[in-house]
Amino acid sequence: MKVYLNGKYMNEENCRISPFDRGFLFGDGVYEVLKYNGKNFIEFDSHIKRLKTGLNFLEINFTGTENLTNICRKLITLNNLTEKKALLYIQVTRGISNPRTHFFSKENIIPTIFISVSLLPSNKKELKKGVSVELEKDFRWSRCNVKTISLLPNVLARQKASEKNIAEAVWTKNGFITEGTHTNFFGVNKGIVQTAPLTNNILPGITRQAIIRLCKINKLPLKENYIKENEIKDFDEFFLTSTTMDVTPIIRINNLIVNKGKPGAVTRKIQKYYFDMINSV
Ligand code: PDD
Repeated sequence: MKVYLNGKYMNEENCRISPFDRGFLFGDGVYEVLKYNGKNFIEFDSHIKRLKTGLNFLEINFTGTENLTNICRKLITLNNLTEKKALLYIQVTRGISNPRTHFFSKENIIPTIFISVSLLPSNKKELKKGVSVELEKDFRWSRCNVKTISLLPNVLARQKASEKNIAEAVWTKNGFITEGTHTNFFGVNKGIVQTAPLTNNILPGITRQAIIRLCKINKLPLKENYIKENEIKDFDEFFLTSTTMDVTPIIRINNLIVNKGKPGAVTRKIQKYYFDMINSV
């Protein structure tokens, strides 16, 4: 595949990044994953806004965000994906520190920017039938609202779940459900849709934001309140949201079978609103 690295388009085999890059040494960077529907990017501006928030938080002085639309479009074209559904990965790291030091210079460092594209894998089966998840104690840092490339807790928890054939590990913190390792978490209780509020404990998911907007437009009641671990047995439905998992029904949490093991009616409605939206942009 053709990728973009620091101002140049090239074959991925020709990509060269210094081992002194702080992304490699420290996980010192931010990223975005976004979707292309065969015509347009989905919620592009929101992804770029979140990228900028992360760059500001990390104090990475990257000035190229205005060019990202053009670069992403060109990569789609170069890889013959213009009429296909695709995923884009954008990563910006702080750049090179040689010799390696924890501290960094704010002036003499050039951020590394890397963008790749891939065909969107099919998740039809999961969307239709739903998935199982397991709960895991949240052992991440206290700035989960920043989309950094330092994802070790997420990687380890997701791997543990995957080895048991479970689609996602969902974090709990002091008895409250926060989010999944790479998804936001929603429940439905007596017709009211519920998801964790925006705090440092969760990533402000772009799909989450779209679902909240769609619930408002379609007059589905929604509360941004934590779902407690000991309340899940009282809920009727659950689902996960993300750029890669869309709106995926949950049919089992640990040993609790949700809605007799079938995706719920409210989840189905939200799936429809969401796909109508992404197919129409
Ligand atoms: N993950 N929460 C976490 C911890 C995430 O990593 C993600 C996204 C989400 C959902 O965000 P969005 O709706 O903007 O995709 C929530 C991406 C897809 C990833 O790491 O691959």
